[in-house]
Amino acid sequence: MNFQLTEEQEMLRKMVRDFAINEVEPTAAERDEEERFDRSIFNKMAELGLTGIPWSEEYGGIGSDFVSYVIAVEELSRVCASTGVTLSAHLSLASWPIYKYGNEEQKKSFLYRLATGEALGAYALSEPGAGSDVASMKTTAKKDGDEYVLNGSKVWITNGGVADLYLVFAKTDPDANHKGVSAFIVEKGTEGFLFGKKEKKLGIRSSPTTELIFENCRVPKENMLGAEGDGFKIAMSTLDGGRNGIAAQAVGIAQGALDAAVDYAKEREQFGKPIATNQGISFKLADMATEVEASRLLTYQAAWLESQGLPYGKASAMSKLFAGDTAMKVTVEAVQVFGGYGYTKDYPVERYMRDAKITQIYEGTNEIQRLVIGRMLTK
Ligand code: CAA
Ligand code: FAD
Repeated sequence: MNFQLTEEQEMLRKMVRDFAINEVEPTAAERDEEERFDRSIFNKMAELGLTGIPWSEEYGGIGSDFVSYVIAVEELSRVCASTGVTLSAHLSLASWPIYKYGNEEQKKSFLYRLATGEALGAYALSEPGAGSDVASMKTTAKKDGDEYVLNGSKVWITNGGVADLYLVFAKTDPDANHKGVSAFIVEKGTEGFLFGKKEKKLGIRSSPTTELIFENCRVPKENMLGAEGDGFKIAMSTLDGGRNGIAAQAVGIAQGALDAAVDYAKEREQFGKPIATNQGISFKLADMATEVEASRLLTYQAAWLESQGLPYGKASAMSKLFAGDTAMKVTVEAVQVFGGYGYTKDYPVERYMRDAKITQIYEGTNEIQRLVIGRMLTK
């Protein structure tokens, strides 16, 4: 057993940390306040190769691994959780299924564009009446000659409106429950593909979350990923890895909040001494640090399993569950360490606390992670 990162992984961490501190953090609070997505940040991530970390050069990637990928999401989220999820949705959710299930032509075109950052990706599964219960989705895709005609709507789509390629799940057989779901790659600008409401949110406010509307949207049959009826398995197996991306986001948020709390506790004096010298505060910091480290280990382990070609679905559900709950707990405690100042926008901990909440909700709520883990334990 070896807990040491490779030289390459350490170099990547340093590169992403420098980038995050110099190019992402300075505008994080402002983008949050203005609910503003900044494409130039994504473009710079592409220049650094982050948009295609695990894919081979042939498909536009940099040929690294999934541990490097979670390190990148963690480091970005340490300063800006919105930027972390932009990359996570792009890479784990939009690119991974094409890498895994795409034919050679789809990989050379769609995956290449995503990996190089020429295109930004999104993953469209959820619907107004089908969140946790994916199989009850209503969007349909009807075959008509060489095309499929999509009708329906998707909600809560991360990178919605700003993404160029959307992996959209729809029922080619509406009577067949989960076995009737198929997956399609839909390009922005396709006739009949419209953007609806953009959500106003508690956290990750510079990551756009948007409704997608399909009105007789014609998609060439070549844009189907896998075969008819493969969609549910493609969606679920994609989430197996995606959930670890969210775990990495949660680790980053929690670490950012912990760092801020430690610095503040050393500086802030009350009763003539730094508040960190009170055991009530130092024990709190100790618990926070321990849980962040445990979350990180679960996250890196799940990524390592995937890189080794070993089963990682249960590990990934566990990392998302534990790291999401930890991020929520640690960020609430960080605000507490800051006292009244923590409740204001003068410090970043209130933003971390607002951002942390989503890690318990998306890519399957933490109740759904328990369901997934429970089923795996007992099947
Ligand atoms: N990999 C491959 N196949 C899988 C699978 C997996 N991980 N999980 C299930 N399947 C297969 C099953 O083997 C089964 O196959 P058969 O028909 O051959 O038997 C089939 O799929 C149906 O499985 P279930 O009976 O378990 O399906 P279910 O209807 O009970 O649903 C669920 C299971 C886990 C609750 C699922 O609906 C789920 O994951 N819900 C949560 C939805 C979710 O996570 N949404 C995230 C949206 S993306 C997002 O949020 C983006 C973002 O954060 C940025
Ligand atoms: P519901 O399914 O209605 O759940 C409501 C409550 O009931 C939750 O607490 C849930 O845990 C609980 N519950 C439901 N079923 C069970 C059960 N069987 N056992 C125990 N408890 C249960 N989706 C995408 O497809 N793509 C995206 O890019 C995307 N990005 C998102 C970004 C944001 C900011 C948000 C808020 C959501 C995003 N989602 C996305 C959707 C997200 O995945 C769903 O919100 C999530 O899966 C939960 O679905 P729901 O909101 O419909 O809640």
